[in-house]
Amino acid sequence: MSDTSTGNGKVVVNRAMSLDGFIAGPGHTMDWGGGRPLADFVAPEDFAEVAAATGAMLIGRRTWEVGSKMEAEEPGSVDYPFAGPFFLLTHRPLEPPDPDVTILSGDIGDAVATALNAAGGKNLEILGADVAGQCLGRGLVDEILVYVLPVLLGDGIPFSSPGLTRIDLEPIGSARSGEATILRFRVRR
Ligand SMILES: NC(=O)c1ccc[n+]([C@@H]2O[C@H](COP(=O)([O-])OP(=O)(O)OC[C@H]3O[C@@H](n4cnc5c(N)ncnc54)[C@H](OP(=O)(O)O)[C@@H]3O)[C@@H](O)[C@H]2O)c1
Repeated sequence: MSDTSTGNGKVVVNRAMSLDGFIAGPGHTMDWGGGRPLADFVAPEDFAEVAAATGAMLIGRRTWEVGSKMEAEEPGSVDYPFAGPFFLLTHRPLEPPDPDVTILSGDIGDAVATALNAAGGKNLEILGADVAGQCLGRGLVDEILVYVLPVLLGDGIPFSSPGLTRIDLEPIGSARSGEATILRFRVRR
């Protein structure tokens, strides 16, 4: 359990990933096959269970921008059954401001503690390769969940961001879910 944890909430990194280790394609495209969203590949009950365990999200600015662009181009394409608090890590204000989003900046440990506190005993989900890398590097992540999707992208944004050093994991689950395979790991400390 992370030293920033409160209640039973964990700090988790949940990722859709191609079999060859990319969490997005070249240019941050998120096409896992025929334009289908992640939810289309995963059994609905598994997707709903993960969402129900989530109490807050801490999101990197680039992930936010990729999601906003996808939503603008195709409304409903960022479809995740979650309505809790959003925390956006950025050095720049949102234009226009979004009253439903709390902007955080600076020390990643402080940001995780703030967002985890808002998760009300549920999990804090970390979104963004750079942000997840910062959290992993500081030993702030409790668990990693990967939706392995049936595609080889060949190129794109890798799971690990540059500069991340070795981190050992304990396998705690693996299961087929629809067309995806869900792998779960606890981060060893
Ligand atoms: N497959 C999946 O499940 C999944 C999930 C999430 C994301 N993704 C993909 O991951 C990619 C985005 O990851 P990324 O690594 O490029 O970027 P990111 O982690 O989403 O965002 C990085 C940006 O966040 C801001 N930031 C980070 N740490 C900060 C701090 N401590 N204080 C203030 N601001 C901070 C900075 O933006 P500014 O300085 O510009 O403000 C930084 O450039 C996208 O392609 C997205 O689609 C995939």
